[in-house]
Amino acid sequence: MSEFITLEMIDEAVAAIHSYTQRKPKIGLILGTGLGDMAESVSPADIIHYSKIPHWPQSTIQGHKGRLVIGDLEGQPALIMQGRAHYYEGYSMPIVGFPVRVMIRMGVKVLVVTNAAGGVNPDYEPGDVMLINDHISLIAMGGLNPLWGPNIDEFGERFPDMSQPYDQELLSLAKEIAKEKGLSPREGVYVCLAGPSFESPADLRFLHTIGVDAVGMSTVPEVITARHAKLRVLGLSGISNKANLDGSTVTTHEEVLEAGKILVPKMDAIIRGVIRRL
Ligand code: HPA
Repeated sequence: MSEFITLEMIDEAVAAIHSYTQRKPKIGLILGTGLGDMAESVSPADIIHYSKIPHWPQSTIQGHKGRLVIGDLEGQPALIMQGRAHYYEGYSMPIVGFPVRVMIRMGVKVLVVTNAAGGVNPDYEPGDVMLINDHISLIAMGGLNPLWGPNIDEFGERFPDMSQPYDQELLSLAKEIAKEKGLSPREGVYVCLAGPSFESPADLRFLHTIGVDAVGMSTVPEVITARHAKLRVLGLSGISNKANLDGSTVTTHEEVLEAGKILVPKMDAIIRGVIRRL
């Protein structure tokens, strides 16, 4: 299989989805590790397993259901990904961004991305929600950019601007809604690493020094892909564990999944509130 993706591949995936649903989603929502339950209350909905969609990257890890839920969310037509693929699973970065390109061809204009992340900011506690106001794309700086390969002009230009990866209006709206709901989310910078190993204490001290608040292994590829086509993006990190800056604690996938249970209602309230007011 070519590592580049083509418009034909994307449109084959769009055609397959259209054979299961007539809905025309305007909002895309990507649910990260342990956060998939947010889609359970969407009904009526058309549900499509990723395995039925050509070229679509499958999620191979626990905590990712691997299906699309297409239905109305707070009165708005939405396409929800219950789980995503990551670079560390063996997918090229353009393939990690593939689902977003399918959404774009289907007419999605706003992308909401969520993830589970480690809190690098020492003030953060497990169970905190962080609204992402910027990211450090260490993974892309290292050469792994989702736009690697021939530019597909139908989406955007060769050298896309990245001065506002996260939409200021959506961020303000999210803060307003959180306040109304009595929630006090954090706001900060997310970094995407390749994974799958968690960070060493020195890695974490480095990340802290360069201005990272939360660390994870996702989201940035999808955000860069979305911004290439000028989608408006809202990003939320669910802090699942405190980063281990002094090497005194151990990070596990189980604690990441466990934190999801506390995080889902908070993130659900903020996301639904924002979508309702779009
Ligand atoms: N590091 C990287 N990715 C993560 C973490 C972490 O501590 N927690 C959840 N995803």
